Amino acid sequence: MEPGARPRLLLAVWTLAALARRGSGEAGDGGWQRRGPGAPAALAEEQRCAVERRADLSYSEFVQHYAFSRPVILQGLTDNSRFRALCSRERLLASFGDSVVRLSTANTYSYRKGELPHPAAQLASILQAASAGPHQPLPAVDLPFQEYVEHLLHPQDPTSLGNNTLYFFGDNNFSEWASLFQHYSPPPFSLLGTTTAYSFGIAGAGSGVPFHWHGPGFSEVIYGRKRWFLYPPEKTPEFHPNKTTLTWLQDTYPTLAPSVRPLECTVQAGEVLYFPDRWWHATLNLDTSVFISTFLG
Ligand SMILES: *[C@@H]1O[C@H](CO)[C@@H](O)[C@H](O)[C@H]1NC(C)=O
Ligand SMILES: *[C@@H]1O[C@H](CO)[C@@H](O)[C@H](O)[C@H]1NC(C)=O
Ligand SMILES: *[C@@H]1O[C@H](CO)[C@@H](O)[C@H](O)[C@H]1NC(C)=O
Repeated sequence: MEPGARPRLLLAVWTLAALARRGSGEAGDGGWQRRGPGAPAALAEEQRCAVERRADLSYSEFVQHYAFSRPVILQGLTDNSRFRALCSRERLLASFGDSVVRLSTANTYSYRKGELPHPAAQLASILQAASAGPHQPLPAVDLPFQEYVEHLLHPQDPTSLGNNTLYFFGDNNFSEWASLFQHYSPPPFSLLGTTTAYSFGIAGAGSGVPFHWHGPGFSEVIYGRKRWFLYPPEKTPEFHPNKTTLTWLQDTYPTLAPSVRPLECTVQAGEVLYFPDRWWHATLNLDTSVFISTFLG
């Protein structure tokens, strides 16, 4: 090798690697993960996964094996690459930065009585009943989307209660955000007699909803990763309704005997988790995550 060839080669390799990192960062996380000194750490991923992953599942297999009996993670059902591109930090801020969004606490959703239009709202009222905070619940907070992203989209404080964590999920203004949602392709599996309702959210690492249940539905991760904990309807989990999933994971989860451990798995961007009717579930966003649920009500 001629003198100088090796450094040049190393430089070329380093440059390529740096470009690849940059490229994958932009395409891979939509600009939602902050980098550099002081950037919040993502939560470690648990590799164990007790939920089946199925690629190219047919509708009849879905109905026969999962729809009424167990959760499943669906891969490759729809192509939401356009929707994903529109959900990058930059694009969402450009399109919706001034839109006022309604934030809710991780344990308390505020809906006015008589305004429970879809299953996401039922979830809200269940959460509210299950886990009203120790004091008066925080009212829902309305603020411009840009302010939420710049000031409130931070990792979950592990010492704080769910009643102190504000995040954007499930209280979407569908007329204002229609230009985005029209590009989302929901999983093409419906259940007889149900209608669908979307619930779109963006939340920081370590955030998530504590255990609750409602009707069946799908939850797709657009950016980030979301860890799920699930129990069948007849196995009520051990959990404190006023605590966050993160606290539950740290305090309760390690003490669970094998026979009472949840089904769990981490859903990656582009994957869709299906949860059947009345299955208990808690979620934990491992990164700043963008996600959309399709409730079958
Ligand atoms: C949760 O907070 C509510 C409201 O203060 C309280 O009534 C309830 O007892 C708490 N739940 C538990 C299990 O401590
Ligand atoms: C949340 O619960 C904590 C612990 O009981 C309490 O000190 C705090 O005031 C509550 N915060 C709100 C906003 O309700
Ligand atoms: C949704 O947004 C539109 C347009 O900004 C607004 O007029 C309407 O009041 C909003 N709806 C709700 C329920 O906030």
